[in-house]
Amino acid sequence: MPVSAASAPSVDASLFVFLDRCHQDIQKKLVQMLALATAVEADGLTPALQKQARELTDWFNAEPRQHHLDEEKHVFPALLTSNEENILQTTHRLIQDHGWLETDWFEIEPSLEAAADGNTWFDPAALRHAVEVFQQLYIDHIVLEESLAYPQARERMDPASLNAMGVEMARRRAVRDVKGAKA
Ligand SMILES: [Fe+2]
Ligand SMILES: [Fe+2]
Repeated sequence: MPVSAASAPSVDASLFVFLDRCHQDIQKKLVQMLALATAVEADGLTPALQKQARELTDWFNAEPRQHHLDEEKHVFPALLTSNEENILQTTHRLIQDHGWLETDWFEIEPSLEAAADGNTWFDPAALRHAVEVFQQLYIDHIVLEESLAYPQARERMDPASLNAMGVEMARRRAVRDVKGAKA
């Protein structure tokens, strides 16, 4: 049975603070990616931009996917127990957005990967435009999550669920880090 925030004062908010921080990181990296694409379009690829392209490619191939899994495994299921149509519709839209964000990233990734390798076969204007589209969808998505999804999910999660959520998130990242270290 859902536990309201008022009746569960001991619910640990730190996991949602962590999710908010992931949003801040994503937005910061999107700003960097747009600046990079704009600079490549204006002045061409430089060694410094190439290095930044590598960092951004590696980061976007790793962190946002973990963040989306956090939400798909823990936040969205809590919302899907709602009987409010507005919450259900919003949750389905957020789930669909994750698919669109992945599609947008697949549009960008080959060009960014090329830049990271010092190749310039891609169209810089098309890359900049794709980054703008990606950034806008992400911002809209994040606003919806922070204004509706996270507060509603927190109301529905009891301390045991939050604890299990934290354990699963930490374990998944630890497994990823071990695999990365072995690669
Ligand atoms: Fe999301
Ligand atoms: Fe998110």
